[in-house]
Amino acid sequence: MTLNTVSLRFLAWVWVLALLASANAYSQTDTASEGHPARTLVIASHPYPERSVVNKALQQVVQNMDGVVYRNLESLYGNDVKAIDVEAERKAYEDVDTVVYMFPVHWFNMTPMLKAYFNEVWFRWAPQALKGKKMLVVVTAAGSDSFYSRTGELGITIDEILAPMRACARFVGMSYLEPLAFLDVAGADAAKIQSYQKQLQDRLKEGGLAKPASPAKADAAANRVLVSIVLLPKDIPHFAELLAKEKATAAGWKDRGILEHLLSREDGHGVMLVLKDVSRAQAEVLVKSLPLSRYFDKVEYSPYLQQY
Ligand SMILES: Cc1cc2nc3c(=O)[nH]c(=O)nc-3n(C[C@H](O)[C@H](O)[C@H](O)COP(=O)(O)O)c2cc1C
Repeated sequence: MTLNTVSLRFLAWVWVLALLASANAYSQTDTASEGHPARTLVIASHPYPERSVVNKALQQVVQNMDGVVYRNLESLYGNDVKAIDVEAERKAYEDVDTVVYMFPVHWFNMTPMLKAYFNEVWFRWAPQALKGKKMLVVVTAAGSDSFYSRTGELGITIDEILAPMRACARFVGMSYLEPLAFLDVAGADAAKIQSYQKQLQDRLKEGGLAKPASPAKADAAANRVLVSIVLLPKDIPHFAELLAKEKATAAGWKDRGILEHLLSREDGHGVMLVLKDVSRAQAEVLVKSLPLSRYFDKVEYSPYLQQY
């Protein structure tokens, strides 16, 4: 075996390990593994992760904080309510004093997997095990502040929508913290999503529930997203004009420091982008804003860790 073959195999292994590590990060992470005791457990749920923008961005915040054990129900179990590993879920509460439940409001309710989780994991266990812990609910909803007000269309507030969560907390002796509700989230642009991320990070930091990751860890996790775009293989009307606008948009991203690399095929039928310091959700918003986006045949996003 030549040295080149050995080093190629080694690199392939490093690559596979990095991929495995990043894939796992989406379902479960324990950011307390470097000697800090885990204090906050985050249970995230979204029935349509492939369509999620806002929750995905919020989930990224907690995954990058120290002192958080993160579990994503759909990443772990899909939408199979019977697949929940009750023992593993109960174990995740060890050494935790605050639990964050994070989900979108769908039909004025929690998600199906979260409801199943309470049925399976909490049943005949929670009142003894969770007494004295704190509960923080983080939700997103399309309804606005005025919609969720006494004088709104339904006369129902977001606190009332979350009454089952408050009741669960009180029933098992947890203290129910003021929820963090992001309302009117439909069509949120990259700046708004960034402000939601900051609000969540500040809330966790100020409440002493978690810390932003150490600079080294933040660097390692520096949000780079590799985007591969394939254009529809057909004639696009006004292609030259749209391409010029596309290039101007990309130049703007370059100026803002969020576009690290852009590689395009010579025939103009595809590009690869490396976006920097953006979450995947923000990358999706950015890519959808491109003038040619309606002609994209295939777009793939992958988390990307720079090795050299
Ligand atoms: C099936 C479904 C039901 C929804 N029901 C509600 C609702 O009852 N109240 C509301 O304010 N928004 C509702 N929405 C909007 C979602 O709350 C909103 O799209 C979500 O919070 C955005 O987060 P995401 O980008 O992570 O999906 C609903 C959306 C879907 C897909």
